[in-house]
Amino acid sequence: MIRSNVSVATQFAGLQLQSCIYNASGPWCTTKKELMDIGQSAAGAIITKSCTLLAREGNPTPRYFENNLGSINSMGLPNKGYQYYQSIAEEITAKFQKPYIVSVSGLSLENNMRILESLQTQKNIAAIELNLSCPNVVGKAQTAYDFPQVVKVLRAIAPLNKIPIGIKLPPYFDFIHFQEMAAIINQYPIAFVTCVNSIGNGLLIDIEKEAVVIQPKGGFGGIGGDYIKPTALANVCKFRELLRADISVIGCGGIKTGQDVFEHLLCGADAVQIGTQFMSEKATCFKRIVNELQHLMQKKGYHSIADFKGKLIQA
Ligand code: DHB
Repeated sequence: MIRSNVSVATQFAGLQLQSCIYNASGPWCTTKKELMDIGQSAAGAIITKSCTLLAREGNPTPRYFENNLGSINSMGLPNKGYQYYQSIAEEITAKFQKPYIVSVSGLSLENNMRILESLQTQKNIAAIELNLSCPNVVGKAQTAYDFPQVVKVLRAIAPLNKIPIGIKLPPYFDFIHFQEMAAIINQYPIAFVTCVNSIGNGLLIDIEKEAVVIQPKGGFGGIGGDYIKPTALANVCKFRELLRADISVIGCGGIKTGQDVFEHLLCGADAVQIGTQFMSEKATCFKRIVNELQHLMQKKGYHSIADFKGKLIQA
């Protein structure tokens, strides 16, 4: 039941969302049909699978596995190429009154520039999330762990100002890294920062088989779900503290319930994304989680997310 006196609406990067909860780029957002499922659901926005210049098949299977604590993936960027996500923008936005965000993960800075320049000309794309943190392409480092490279990327994309651009970061684990990365981002016209991508290059093991559970990269892959919630909350909290006030923070990591959303918002997230839980529950998760968040807000006497967003007590 949607409670009319409790709003979960939000704004970031000039976008208006009826619900602050939407999908994370990755699971179930590669094809038009999958994106339509998100459109029809209670998700507040639609974000695509990270796209490259050309379509990709991705890594060999099995490349995704989940247990009751979370997931591991080494998909290897299977996607239909950026022109596909550009070409369906008009149809998707005409059908659903919610922002359509394209996630971009080109394999080089030159590729990212070509993709971003082209997407900038498409008026039905509400925002771009530039993914600087894919851990699964063999031979490619996660850009956002290479700080001088992040400077190069942000400098190159700075002149592109027709559509708001945000960046998706990997988790950081040290205060010095939070400070250095925030200081870099603060010098550029970045509209939002999504914290966090999966924890890269973890291992899950099947003890019956005494073997890894996914095939690529010797079983190493990005970890999501419950395993990463404390890390995600720490990154949301620290980046909210350190980034310019006009840069929004989107929380991602370990959200299964309305209570988990509440924790991300308390840490300062302006909106949140659901990855592993969306993959297992599919698009019905959004309505359930919105209801749980509204129930919790009502119990606490809150009417909008502004009543508690960023108000975590740390004394
Ligand atoms: C993939 C995984 C990621 O964590 C990411 O950010 C982009 C792509 C993948 O393996 O497809």
